Amino acid sequence: MESKISIFITCLVFAAAFQLLLPVSEASLKVGYYKSKCKKAESIVKSTVRNFIVKNPGLVAGVIRMFFHDCFVRCEMDICKVVVNVDLRKSRLDGRVSNGSEALQLLPPPSFNLTQLEASFARNGLSTAEMVTLSGAHSIGRSHCSSFTSRLYPTIDPTMNQGFGSSLRKLCPQNAAVDGVVPQDFVSPNKLDEQYYKNVESLTALFFSDWSLLTSSETQKQVDTYTKVPGAFKVDFANAMIKMGSISDALAGSSGEVRGPTCRAVN
Ligand code: HEM
Ligand SMILES: *[C@@H]1O[C@H](CO)[C@@H](O)[C@H](O)[C@H]1NC(C)=O
Ligand SMILES: *[C@@H]1O[C@H](CO)[C@@H](O)[C@H](O)[C@H]1NC(C)=O
Repeated sequence: MESKISIFITCLVFAAAFQLLLPVSEASLKVGYYKSKCKKAESIVKSTVRNFIVKNPGLVAGVIRMFFHDCFVRCEMDICKVVVNVDLRKSRLDGRVSNGSEALQLLPPPSFNLTQLEASFARNGLSTAEMVTLSGAHSIGRSHCSSFTSRLYPTIDPTMNQGFGSSLRKLCPQNAAVDGVVPQDFVSPNKLDEQYYKNVESLTALFFSDWSLLTSSETQKQVDTYTKVPGAFKVDFANAMIKMGSISDALAGSSGEVRGPTCRAVN
């Protein structure tokens, strides 16, 4: 019984709680949606998520990444204010479809160059500038070695700082039995900040896609601005997250459902 309750609470956190980032244009999703239905819902969700995050700060990166993936695949998730401090609308329902190969097709891989990244984001109504801004999420969280080892072997990619490449080789040996994990940002791994853009400039970001932001003068300028103008990244990032949350019609109303205790699966 107790475990059922804790599973349910976890589900609440992961389903209802990822509330937030929602589009101003979306009439059916509202900030304060739960006020009439369940007065305390938002504050319960918020403090619950906060408690989880205090115990495991790595969750923030996972939640932000999940939000990105969700928006590019089916856009069913909200995100919690605890994670990114922007005011979001709520009332999304859970989707009825889950399709792994669809996700693979719709998400940009780390091998993408600038043209390919622009196309992927444009298909989702996001500009090149917003793509540059959202890539700043790679200032937190981690990556598996397998996501970038093609840049380390057989030779260190000339688009990567060679010293950085040698260090990564030690952390990610070739043919290792286990796929290792490294931080995205070695300087301030748990801080969502503009350090990512400094890493991009010094060729010490993990992915080819990160380096690609230097390959047009327009995107290169934006990267440079973020490294120099304090606070510029944060403002843009909050706005771009809200925009990303509006990619497709959320499942408010009748097209979704509220999942039961096994919230990983459709009812
Ligand atoms: C521009 C295109 C993007 C590409 C090619 C890309 C690719 C990747 C890859 C390969 C990883 C590592 C996965 C692993 O090996 O475990 C990763 C991690 C991550 N990505 Fe992206 N990503 C992109 C954009 C974004 C955006 C827009 C966001 C959110 C706004 C985001 C947030 C994250 C976060 C937070 C992590 C760390 C996750 C964790 O620590 O669990 N990424 N990304
Ligand atoms: C999943 O998506 C792929 C690619 O769009 C599609 O071909 C396939 O039929 C889908 N599978 C299911 C079970 O909907
Ligand atoms: C990116 O790759 C595509 C496909 O290989 C290619 O057509 C395009 O010219 C490349 N763009 C850049 C900026 O390298």
